[in-house]
Amino acid sequence: MERRTNIRWWLLVAVSLGVMLAFSAPYLAFDPDASRVDVSSSAWHYPLLVAHILTALVALATGFAQFSERLRSRKPAAHRYAGRAYVASVFVSGILAFALAAFIADFAKAVSFLTLSALWLFTSWQGYRYARRRRFADHRRWMIRSFGLTLVAVSGRVLMPVLLLLYYALNGFSLPGGREGMVEEALNVNIWAGLVANFILVEWSVLRPAGRSKELS
Ligand code: HEM
Repeated sequence: MERRTNIRWWLLVAVSLGVMLAFSAPYLAFDPDASRVDVSSSAWHYPLLVAHILTALVALATGFAQFSERLRSRKPAAHRYAGRAYVASVFVSGILAFALAAFIADFAKAVSFLTLSALWLFTSWQGYRYARRRRFADHRRWMIRSFGLTLVAVSGRVLMPVLLLLYYALNGFSLPGGREGMVEEALNVNIWAGLVANFILVEWSVLRPAGRSKELS
């Protein structure tokens, strides 16, 4: 990896882990009253949400570890174990996310999470299958796609200020539903925005034939 790519990579690692640890922290106390998501409706909702977050954190950490060239070349067994932990955590977290979507009142928001879960499970499954068949170039492409989707959790949140600004501008620089209404509207579309942004970045920047993919390997 050249120096500039290296800096960008570590910035991505720091921002992703920093943002997601900050958002996950209230749930690590296992206190439903500290939940940012409204969970007053069901006894199932909170445990499912916490289990989703804990397994998603494992996916995020092991996913980053998989891109370490040093780990892959010096400790291939560790790469394989971390890879299995990544796929297993995506599967558990992704299936839990399907269940969580059932608790979401807004239709557009629920569909965004259902779409993200389905793509997350599909791309990870493809990556796993190709590793089992020892088709490592395909394995690598699908795992990059899978991890690009893991990072939608980050980009969806990082894009929030842009969406809030857009909402404000599109409403003629006023807040018809107040601040709460603005945040709610932005949260209904942030996953869609993150999905589109990450899809473009992964397919046109990382995976395009003459792109940076070589530098990441
Ligand atoms: C990429 C696939 C993912 C899907 C489909 C997904 C799905 C969901 C769903 C449906 C919720 C409930 C949202 C609500 O009721 O408003 C949620 C919440 C949450 N998820 Fe995920 N998630 C994904 C990845 C991740 C990752 C990688 C993390 C990293 C730790 C994560 C952390 C969280 C947190 C912290 C919440 C609580 C909401 C908040 O307080 O902001 N998720 N997720």
